[in-house]
Amino acid sequence: MNFEPTDEQRLLRDTARDFARREIEPKAMELDKQGRWPTEIVKQMGELGFMGMMVPTELGGSGLDAISYVLAMEEVSAACASCGVIMSVNNSLFCDPVLKFGTDEQKATYLAPAASGAKLGAFGLTEPMSGSDAQTMATVAERKGSAWVLNGSKNFITNGPHADFVIIFAVTERRDGKVKHTAFVMPTDTPGFTRSPHDEKLGIHAAHSCTLYLENVTLDDSHVLGGVGQGFKVAMATLDGGRIGIASQALGIARAALDKSVAYSKERKSFGVPIAQHQAIQFMLADMATELDAARLLTLRAASMKDRGARHSLESAEAKLYASEAATRIAHKAIQVHGGYGYTTEYGVERHWRDARITEIYEGTSEIQRIVIAANVLKG
Ligand code: CAA
Repeated sequence: MNFEPTDEQRLLRDTARDFARREIEPKAMELDKQGRWPTEIVKQMGELGFMGMMVPTELGGSGLDAISYVLAMEEVSAACASCGVIMSVNNSLFCDPVLKFGTDEQKATYLAPAASGAKLGAFGLTEPMSGSDAQTMATVAERKGSAWVLNGSKNFITNGPHADFVIIFAVTERRDGKVKHTAFVMPTDTPGFTRSPHDEKLGIHAAHSCTLYLENVTLDDSHVLGGVGQGFKVAMATLDGGRIGIASQALGIARAALDKSVAYSKERKSFGVPIAQHQAIQFMLADMATELDAARLLTLRAASMKDRGARHSLESAEAKLYASEAATRIAHKAIQVHGGYGYTTEYGVERHWRDARITEIYEGTSEIQRIVIAANVLKG
């Protein structure tokens, strides 16, 4: 087993780290406070090739592997978790399924502009009354002549307010108690498509999400992604990759919280010595570092399986479950290390805790990851 990044992966990580520290980190606090969508950073991420990292170069992407994606996601998310999830949704939840399931025409129309960062993608699965139980969605696509007519709504859609393209999942058949779903890829300027103002959230303030409304949205067959009736499998296979993205986002948040805690513990004195000399602080730092490393190894394993073309549902679920919960624990301890200052906004560690919290919820809650893991374990 080789844990060393290749020269190309190392170069990519260093480029991402340099970019994140120079261009993103100085703005992260302001983005969080204002809840401002980071237009200029999204553009820069596109120029750097970060918006379609695993898409072949001939299709407008960077032609890199999933390991490189994890490394870049960690760097961007360490600076700003909002920027991390904007990047992750475009890469994992939009580009990945269009690359995997799209026709040549769909790849030319949607994938190439999204992978280059010229356009932004979103993923419309969740609904007001259907989150974890994704199959129970109420959005329908009815066949009328040669067209599909979509009605329904999708909520908490990250990138939704700014997306140019969206993948919508809808029920296309209900028979004998069985439901079939179909995925549609469509531009957001399609008549009948509208969206709400962006949601007010606990964290990731700069990554806007909203509700999408579909009222008699009429699409022809060229918008069907992955085949009629195959939508649920498209969604699940996509989330196998998406969960690697969220695990990487959690790694970035956790690393930022640990780095700040290490620096602060060397500066801040109590009882006449830097607090880093107290075993109480050292034990917290030791636990934070160990959990971060364990989360990183799980995430890189899932990514390497994706790179090898192996099914990685179990490994992605384990990585996402562990990394997200570890990030929350690490950010919680970071506040403790910083004491009263950790509870203020001055050092930004409270932001890491607020941002970490969502990684336990979106792209499948921790409880859903446990269901996926248990199902795989019990299968033997
Ligand atoms: N890959 C391919 N196919 C898969 C699959 C996978 N990983 N997982 C399941 N399937 C297939 C199954 O083989 C099965 O196929 P057949 O009908 O042919 O047998 C079919 O899908 C149904 O599978 P299940 O019976 O396991 O489905 P289920 O209804 O029991 O649900 C679940 C499984 C794991 C609970 C699923 O509903 C789930 O993952 N829920 C969570 C949804 C989620 O993650 N939402 C996140 C929204 S996106 C988001 O958050 C974006 C954002 O803002 C950042």
